[in-house]
Amino acid sequence: MARYNYNTEPTILAFESSCDDTSVAVLGQNRILSNITATQHSHAKYGGVVPEVASRAHMEYITSVTMEALNKADIKLNEVDAVACTVGPGLMGSLIVGLSFAKTLAQVLNVPLLDVNHMRAHILAHFIDDPKPRFPFLCLTVSGGHTQIVRVNDYLDMEVLGTTIDDAAGEAFDKTGKLLGLPYPAGIHIDRLAQNGQPVYQFPEPGIDNLNFSFSGLKTSILYFLQREMKSDSGFIQKNLQDICASVQSRIISILLNKLTKAAEIYNISEIAIAGGVSANSGLRRSLSALAEKHHWNIYIPKIEYCTDNAAMIAQAALYQYLEKRFAPLDITANPRLKINAI
Ligand code: KG4
Ligand code: ZN
Repeated sequence: MARYNYNTEPTILAFESSCDDTSVAVLGQNRILSNITATQHSHAKYGGVVPEVASRAHMEYITSVTMEALNKADIKLNEVDAVACTVGPGLMGSLIVGLSFAKTLAQVLNVPLLDVNHMRAHILAHFIDDPKPRFPFLCLTVSGGHTQIVRVNDYLDMEVLGTTIDDAAGEAFDKTGKLLGLPYPAGIHIDRLAQNGQPVYQFPEPGIDNLNFSFSGLKTSILYFLQREMKSDSGFIQKNLQDICASVQSRIISILLNKLTKAAEIYNISEIAIAGGVSANSGLRRSLSALAEKHHWNIYIPKIEYCTDNAAMIAQAALYQYLEKRFAPLDITANPRLKINAI
């Protein structure tokens, strides 16, 4: 391993390209100096992320997003102490674009490369601002690809206590949205529509004993419910869209929060956080606040900009790896199925 000039308050240039957001951030003086994200809109017409389209768009955006992030932070490339990049989990082609770009920069600048796990980064986004959770804490990590309850023992020490056995919570929102004719990604649309609706329709809660989740039964019951109602009234969805959204959202939230409550009881932990794209959901944020009062939890809800994919969280996670000198070799490859406790 090469020898690097080591800085205890490093300037880190970080890349996130695991799915459909091309994001670059600069961390310096222990804070985020810039965080620029180009969201790809070309997937909406396909009703989901098309991997090939995503890789090409990352290739197109990455240079200009990098320049913008450096300019906004007022940092020159020769002031960068380390380059960080998501190495998984995510889409292989998308990860490779960011990682190749990051590797090249690390080599040219002769600074260390930091390989960041995307799911850990979602959790470590809680350390960007105050108040910060105290270890050990539980984090419900809910995104388009993952649904996990994680016990966070330290910055680099995490264990998964429960995970989904089929669809992720974000997928449950997105697939329901598709059935309702809403644009992709549907989470935010369901959230907005639910705000003016009532949860009048009952959907089943899966009977799983442990801390794992399942959302495929919910998806099927929504499908059958809509088919049944549309048979007698073809305008059913249009007429009741807000109530349907409120009902679906309320069930997804109860599935998530019932398991989180169970985990808090079993592990006797009252520091509770949420992270990932679905943690932007206003109903989930509200219901968690209500539960916190009931159970006397200290809760940590990220700012909206740090819920969905962003490079600021990659920079923050990379900082702890840098401080431990956990640098990556330059022949590292991306891993689409990287586990949270793998690095
Ligand atoms: O973390 P993220 O940006 O990307 C992944 O790593 O997957 O999460 C994206 C997911 C999508 O499924 C999207 O529908 C969902 O987060 N999402 C929401 C909201 N905003 C984004 N779901 C519910 N309510 C929201 N407000
Ligand atoms: Zn994510």
